[in-house]
Amino acid sequence: MTLRDRPIGVFDSGVGGLTVLRELRRQLPGEHTIYLGDEARMPYGPRPADEVVGFTREAVRWFTGQECKLVILACNTATAVALEIVRESALVPVIGVVRPGAAAALSASATRAVGVLATEGTVRSASYGRALRDLDPLVRVREVACPALVPLVEAGEMRSAAALTAVRGYVGPLIGDASDAVDTLLLGCTHYPLLREVIERVAGPGVRVVDSATTTALAVREVLASHRLLREGAGDSRHRVFATGPRERFRSVARTIFGEDLPEVEEAILG
Ligand code: DGL
Repeated sequence: MTLRDRPIGVFDSGVGGLTVLRELRRQLPGEHTIYLGDEARMPYGPRPADEVVGFTREAVRWFTGQECKLVILACNTATAVALEIVRESALVPVIGVVRPGAAAALSASATRAVGVLATEGTVRSASYGRALRDLDPLVRVREVACPALVPLVEAGEMRSAAALTAVRGYVGPLIGDASDAVDTLLLGCTHYPLLREVIERVAGPGVRVVDSATTTALAVREVLASHRLLREGAGDSRHRVFATGPRERFRSVARTIFGEDLPEVEEAILG
């Protein structure tokens, strides 16, 4: 297989990264893809950093065995905590979602005040603050850990009263007339785009809500194009989906969330 024809690997702790895969397939329809969700060990958000680094390293090694030409860490927690470390030893190029997400937030924000909603691990790493300030040293950033949101999405409760209450609790303090209010909310977790409707409702029309899927796919396109590794065309691309742990659970959560048929979910063993 030529390098160009090799698949792009997309990694997440579970099903949420399918939001990134969906955008990647939309923007780069000629590419073969392999998705891996580490469903057996999800959630990553509350885990200590060294554990997330170990799991991410295993995943990147697994993608190398699948002969991927590039790996995307679609998981914000894995990107925030492990991207720099796994890159040092990876045999394939690895792209994360934090920098593309930061770029999306800055192009949306008029006041240069950005709120980041993310898992505990991502907030603890302060990676979004760093990425945003790298791109604009004057930006004001408020990062909020939202531990209740992933379990709500996993339970398929995207439109429930509980989701509305939780989102109000996290978003409320960031918006309004206060001098430190933000005008842009960055969804810094794979699952939060699935709560976009309720987040937008709580945030109101004056606040932009952005995620990293579009800019991540753009970043992948740029890297592949600059190395002449882009696979053009459409129609014959192949897509495989792997999960660790009980595939039935992965499949049913994916179906609840996306309401569309996935390719047959295959078993992956990491370690
Ligand atoms: N994929 C994780 C992220 O984007 C959310 C789910 C988890 O905590 O594992 O941060």
